[in-house]
Amino acid sequence: MIDIALEKFPISLKLRDGTAVVVRPLAKRDEAKLHNFFLAVPEEERLFIKQPIFERKMFRDWCRHIDFESNLPLLMLHGNKIIGEATLHQRSGGWKRHIGLLGVLTHPGYRGRDVAKILVEEQVQIARTLGLRKLEAELNGERKVAIHALEQLGFTRLMCLEDYVLDMKAVPHDLIVMGMNLKVDEEYAGVGG
Ligand SMILES: CC(C)(COP(=O)(O)OP(=O)(O)OC[C@H]1O[C@@H](n2cnc3c(N)ncnc32)[C@H](O)[C@@H]1OP(=O)(O)O)[C@@H](O)C(=O)NCCC(=O)NCCS
Repeated sequence: MIDIALEKFPISLKLRDGTAVVVRPLAKRDEAKLHNFFLAVPEEERLFIKQPIFERKMFRDWCRHIDFESNLPLLMLHGNKIIGEATLHQRSGGWKRHIGLLGVLTHPGYRGRDVAKILVEEQVQIARTLGLRKLEAELNGERKVAIHALEQLGFTRLMCLEDYVLDMKAVPHDLIVMGMNLKVDEEYAGVGG
């Protein structure tokens, strides 16, 4: 199924300001590019990163042990530079097997130009092709821009857990869980109705 979902990539398109970009899944050759992309993340956002992303070794592991069934990072590139990333995480089995977890990050120099919008739309299509029924995203309650952006992209707030997560300075923050229902292909085809 994953091969079918990914066969359209790479795709070339233009952002709303005319910037020519390419969207494609992560590849083995992306280690250095990915590292540079994450190093551009502003300090306040780094406080909330779930993994120790500033170790080069981690990027090597990501690129060398690619497993799209579990983690599917979709990249947007401007020339040789990664300007956005959206990762679809799938749980294999268990009661959340129908729910994909989506994370999205846009390079600070390319925000407000539809990067996240395009990447999320592509991941929604992929998630539908894979048969997922829902998407989830987890955010720090203070990231109002990100919450608003995800609302614009079709997510709604599912719950808020107060003082639930710790940033890298051990300060607690609210955890917001957002979600989106996906229409599966059968529904589009009118099967059963
Ligand atoms: C959230 C984030 C991914 C948005 O990326 P982006 O590429 O700038 O977003 P887009 O240009 O595609 O805009 C998508 C929508 O968000 C809204 N939006 C984007 N930036 C905004 C801002 N600064 N203020 C208010 N709304 C904003 C827009 O309304 C837009 O919808 P519209 O075009 O229908 O009006 C980006 O700010 C980011 O990387 N934040 C840090 C990481 C993060 O918190 N990720 C979310 C957790 S999964």
